Amino acid sequence: MFKRKKITAISELNNNLIVPKHIAIIMDGNGRWAKQRGLPRTAGHAAGGESFINTVDACNSLRVKYLTVFAFSTENWKRSEDEIKTLVELMHKYIANYVPKLMELNISLRLLGDYKAFDAVTVTSLEKSIDTLRNNTGMTLCIALNYGGKADICYAVNNLIQSGKRVITEKDITENLYTVGIPDPELVIRTSGEERLSNFLLWQTAYSELYFSTVYWPDFDKKELLTAIESYSKRNRRFGGA
Ligand code: FPP
Repeated sequence: MFKRKKITAISELNNNLIVPKHIAIIMDGNGRWAKQRGLPRTAGHAAGGESFINTVDACNSLRVKYLTVFAFSTENWKRSEDEIKTLVELMHKYIANYVPKLMELNISLRLLGDYKAFDAVTVTSLEKSIDTLRNNTGMTLCIALNYGGKADICYAVNNLIQSGKRVITEKDITENLYTVGIPDPELVIRTSGEERLSNFLLWQTAYSELYFSTVYWPDFDKKELLTAIESYSKRNRRFGGA
């Protein structure tokens, strides 16, 4: 029922690791990484941007089919206006500048969440990037932007109400979430030592394996990613069965 692909052909993997089809990451700890170095929080986010790019590269080289990253939550609006402005600017510039490389790697882009709440320049730039990468057939990079798991479920239910549905099934909800067409993540990684989901992909993670890394997001690298995948490979997934 659930096919798990054994990877043996990639030289850096000396174990028979089972690489998840979909990895979702809560990139946490940028602020603490910066504080530790006496730097402003925004420097932490910039370093987090580098880590994001390296992780996309690493997941792509491991033949992960979907990578989802939590970049801005529906709760992140509580941060200072300055931090939000820098964060949003940084994210859209990172994405726009990274498009040629994503193109070369045959990666397509999906946004999860109400990204249209951002300023017009950001929205136009994000949509341009999606459009450029539209026909790529390799990994799908999903960026959760102004995303919340609870808002995602409300979004699905409202879509269903508008379509006139009176009785709603699990399948209906799955097919109306921002993640429509994307399989649930087998592995969710959160960095920085915090151990919670913080409103990330609540519906989609019902049976995900969770991995908590103690490193701050800017220090997350391919070695850490492989450690998480190694831990996942050893899990016994029963999905409620015996
Ligand atoms: C959490 O660290 C991180 C974020 C809220 C933002 C994540 C953004 C990036 C990694 C920038 C690049 C992203 C893309 C998609 C190009 P925190 O600020 O909550 O850290 P703290 O908990 O230590 O304060």
